[in-house]
Amino acid sequence: MSDETPKGTDYLASTFNAPESPVDAALRPLSFSDFTGQDKTIERLQVMVGAAKRRGDALNHILLSGPPGLGKTTLSFILGNELGKTVRVTSGPVVEKASDLAGLLTSLEEGDILFIDEIHRIPKTVEEYLYSAMEDFRLDIMIDQGPNARSVRLSIPKFTLVGATTRSGLLTAPLRSRFTLQTRLDYYDVPTLTGIVHRSCGLLEVEVDEAGAKEIATRSRGTPRIVNNLINFVRDFAQERADGKITRDVAAGALELLEIDARGLDEMDKRIMRIMAENYQGGPVGLGTVAIAVGEETDTLEEVHEPFLIQEGYLQRTPQGRTLTPKAYQALGLKGYAAD
Ligand SMILES: Nc1ncnc2c1ncn2[C@@H]1O[C@H](COP(=O)(O)OP(=O)(O)OP(=O)(O)O)[C@@H](O)[C@H]1O
Ligand SMILES: [Mg+2]
Repeated sequence: MSDETPKGTDYLASTFNAPESPVDAALRPLSFSDFTGQDKTIERLQVMVGAAKRRGDALNHILLSGPPGLGKTTLSFILGNELGKTVRVTSGPVVEKASDLAGLLTSLEEGDILFIDEIHRIPKTVEEYLYSAMEDFRLDIMIDQGPNARSVRLSIPKFTLVGATTRSGLLTAPLRSRFTLQTRLDYYDVPTLTGIVHRSCGLLEVEVDEAGAKEIATRSRGTPRIVNNLINFVRDFAQERADGKITRDVAAGALELLEIDARGLDEMDKRIMRIMAENYQGGPVGLGTVAIAVGEETDTLEEVHEPFLIQEGYLQRTPQGRTLTPKAYQALGLKGYAAD
């Protein structure tokens, strides 16, 4: 089988952690009722929000983990909206020094939310200050150096930390244990994604039928962000090449033009499977070995790629390592299914 040109899959890859476009922001659900899927997480959050409101108290700290584009940032804004509180947004690597953290925390008001994206990338030195901030709502900051060095205690308003991470495995145990709720977002199934296609198309005032919506949902790798990005191109295609309505044929034509995989697999998903098939007879093989072979970090494979491949039935996790399933060989167009 020849290698595909990477055009289509680059398009998919670029949807991860891409800067937010105006369309992206317009499509973001703003309340629990607007947000579909992730039923368990939503129920947990609704219980916490309801109780916090009833007591007039700040929400407990929450850690949202899961692959990119599934709704972590969206949920943190929903929490703010539902509570009627401000959400201040920052990101792990941006909080370089304890004084950066102090600046952020002292600007909050009682009950506000501090959202730290990529919280696993917060520097160790800052992380230690976060512990007392989360637990006792105070910061002991050292000012000056040498003989003049002294510690100043800052009181901070009772706030809620919402941390988001695609790599929950990289979080230290002390930090993780300070979150009352740790909840993981999973890939969306096709019926839920089909519903999201209808919702987004409604907001964009694009006509779409059921089969067209399903076609987009199937190729979106279980990810709402990819749904919204694909809709943008399919909409253009429908206007240029058809009568503006997204049908199954229109959606399929547009996505073929983008070389988006019919099963929603991205280039790294396929590389992982191809290496396992060709170099390791379909496994069992350790994930660390696969990571080196594809030139990606083990954590990324474990937290971004493997969950999708397992959910879709391309990969199995066994005590001996990972094995490919017949479905993976089929997807790669390879014969010779070795493992049984
Ligand atoms: N349940 C949902 N229903 C409808 N749209 C959704 C849903 N979840 C996410 N989206 C859409 O997907 C886009 C990406 O979601 P979001 O930015 O919250 O992902 P994320 O988990 O924070 O990703 P990253 O890890 O890359 O920061 C949002 O713009 C939003 O419009
Ligand atoms: Mg985000």
